[in-house]
Amino acid sequence: MIKVMGVVGAGQMGTGIAQTAAMAGFEVILYDVSDQMLSNSLKFIKDQLHRGKEKGKWDEQLVVESLERIQAGIKKDPLSVCDLVVEAATENKQVKFSLFKTLDEVVKKDAILTSNTSSISITEIASQTKRPNKVMGMHFMNPVPVMKLVEGIRGLETNDETYNTVKSVAEKMGKTFINVSDFPGFAVNRILMPMINEAIFVLYEGIASPHDIDTAMKLGTNQPMGPLALADFVGLDTCLAIMDVLYEGFKDSKYRPCPLLKNYVMAGRLGKKSGKGFFNYA
Ligand code: CAA
Repeated sequence: MIKVMGVVGAGQMGTGIAQTAAMAGFEVILYDVSDQMLSNSLKFIKDQLHRGKEKGKWDEQLVVESLERIQAGIKKDPLSVCDLVVEAATENKQVKFSLFKTLDEVVKKDAILTSNTSSISITEIASQTKRPNKVMGMHFMNPVPVMKLVEGIRGLETNDETYNTVKSVAEKMGKTFINVSDFPGFAVNRILMPMINEAIFVLYEGIASPHDIDTAMKLGTNQPMGPLALADFVGLDTCLAIMDVLYEGFKDSKYRPCPLLKNYVMAGRLGKKSGKGFFNYA
């Protein structure tokens, strides 16, 4: 029975996961190395909860109780009591590997460790721990409170009990859970990122402006956001990291990241979070 959920990383994904879990009735321990990230995250959650209440989506009681259920801190020790942890740190192999090694030592032995990685092998992440049967991919979409999907990814050693528990936790959080094999990019990003990368090539080759590319896909294919705005929203560093995983994983040139994407990331144009990407957010 999962009661206490740890969330590692207070960026946009960790924040959304913590909010959704607390609203679903889980006790949440939110961990990050940065105090600033944690206070930004808590403020964002508070604002979202109050905004939802003002819109009549939920009542004051849910706001108060959800906020009370979230405990945040820069120390890993409180994570020891978690029944399940969702790691939502930077999309970087070495960062995740080192985190899983530490989590394996800190978190109680029968707890489940999951990663919100958007593309890194779950089998490889699991092999950093002494409990690979209790490790799984739990891939949420951004913005987590709004998006209905969770991709569930089993590593080679993940057992049925872990799979069924993670599925029921995702469902308790109001999500639709799909079962996806442990292949680079899983299902969503295998399809989504090459489309975004191709949109960047269309810009790079001077075929259309950012505004027209996004208008094409919004009005021409009924997507809620154009691919360039979506790239800015996801974070251009994350998009590049995922393209790199696809390119490395399949050794197929169709996944090569567009040079313009690389340039933007090198320049620090990371999209919405840095104030500038394909569009300006100042
Ligand atoms: N947190 C919580 N709620 C949010 C939110 C956030 N960050 N951003 C928006 N919302 C809510 C709003 O409160 C609003 O709720 P109500 O309708 O109940 O009032 C609702 O979402 C719609 O928001 P807006 O009216 O402000 O704007 P919109 O209609 O343009 O919708 C959007 C915004 C939901 C983000 C929509 O544009 C959309 O669905 N975009 C596509 C998002 C997408 O594809 N996400 C997946 C990215 S891929 C991924 O995440 C995986 C990966 O590994 C990279």
